[in-house]
Amino acid sequence: MYEKILKPVFFLFDPERMHHFFNRVGRVLQSNGLTRWIVRAICRPVKDPALETSIAGIKLIHPLGVGAGFDKEGRIIPILKEVGFSHVEAGTVTGRANPGNPRPRLWRLPEDNALIVNYGLVSGGADAARQRFAKESEEWPIPAGMSVAKANLPDLAGEDGLEDLLMAFQKLQLYGDYVTVNVSCPNVGDSCQYCEDADVYRYLLRRLDELKSFKPVFFKLSPELGEARMLEILRDSEPYAWVRGFVLTNLMHGRDGLKSPKLNESMRGGASGPGLREKADRVLAFMAYHGRPRFEFIGMGGINSVDDVYRKIKLGASVVQVVTGLIYHGPLWPSRLMRQLSVKLKEDGYSSIAQAIGADVIDTINN
Ligand SMILES: Cc1cc2nc3c(=O)[nH]c(=O)nc-3n(C[C@H](O)[C@H](O)[C@H](O)COP(=O)(O)O)c2cc1C
Repeated sequence: MYEKILKPVFFLFDPERMHHFFNRVGRVLQSNGLTRWIVRAICRPVKDPALETSIAGIKLIHPLGVGAGFDKEGRIIPILKEVGFSHVEAGTVTGRANPGNPRPRLWRLPEDNALIVNYGLVSGGADAARQRFAKESEEWPIPAGMSVAKANLPDLAGEDGLEDLLMAFQKLQLYGDYVTVNVSCPNVGDSCQYCEDADVYRYLLRRLDELKSFKPVFFKLSPELGEARMLEILRDSEPYAWVRGFVLTNLMHGRDGLKSPKLNESMRGGASGPGLREKADRVLAFMAYHGRPRFEFIGMGGINSVDDVYRKIKLGASVVQVVTGLIYHGPLWPSRLMRQLSVKLKEDGYSSIAQAIGADVIDTINN
């Protein structure tokens, strides 16, 4: 019903307005027990012991979570649980509040099941998030990650930008179960530097180390990193026990695999969806091959079917996350994916996800 009837109607409206609309609907639905129960009855979250997994010691009922960017302010975590997700990465929240890039800044490419995103890390800032989380986090029914980055403001370059990121980190690590440092947003001035430039990344590690993080920390990386740079990132991160892993990957700069006739030069920003899959999988396979078991991996980028979920797990992801697929396939999709995953595991003779994690990584690297 979502894909045949509701989606065509929703897609008549401006994508960013619809994003806000769904967040508002989510808040209304989670506001009382009856509507929560109705959502749960319709979406039928999956519980199967074979799907249980964990990341950085955080236990999850299954591997599928919502990636950063869907619930930017961490406002709808309770309803995302009823929809059937095992965890949510909230954010990205930046140190100072910032309005993001000028509109329009979000485009759909339905022929490619993709989005072009140029939000530019729009955020109400770490202080506002902290005040709300102090009250709301006690009611989060599933594990949550806090995604943080430096604000996208013209006066925040170099050292000032880093201080802004550190401020967001310090304030938000108080909440949720893990922190992701977003060092790869493709649609803000210099943020990608943090993962692309070895000196800047090393300096960031040293500065974060001084903050004595008490939550597991992940870095979210770009799908367009070269192999030498990936090896450097693994080597440089290795000594810091609080670096538990990587979220792979963020949006891509390139326009690979996008065929939509709507695509044009005015659509600036990062691309999501299946066109990103190959790049994201390459980065995941390479990093997991060289980085496991010291590091753990959250796989994302282009998940459009259960095969994509299963492949990322077999390439080394302990957990996977989606954003674009949820928008294209609707609220019944997460549980469908998990039911299908459960069948696939059994067909392959695995009694738990843990047995499948990384099962194909050596074959993929050697090919
Ligand atoms: C509308 C939208 C907003 C996003 N905002 C963020 C963000 O704030 N922080 C972040 O780390 N990634 C953000 N992303 C990137 C996603 O988390 C994810 O890395 C990327 O979209 C690839 O996954 P997908 O193909 O499942 O969408 C955003 C993606 C979309 C589509």
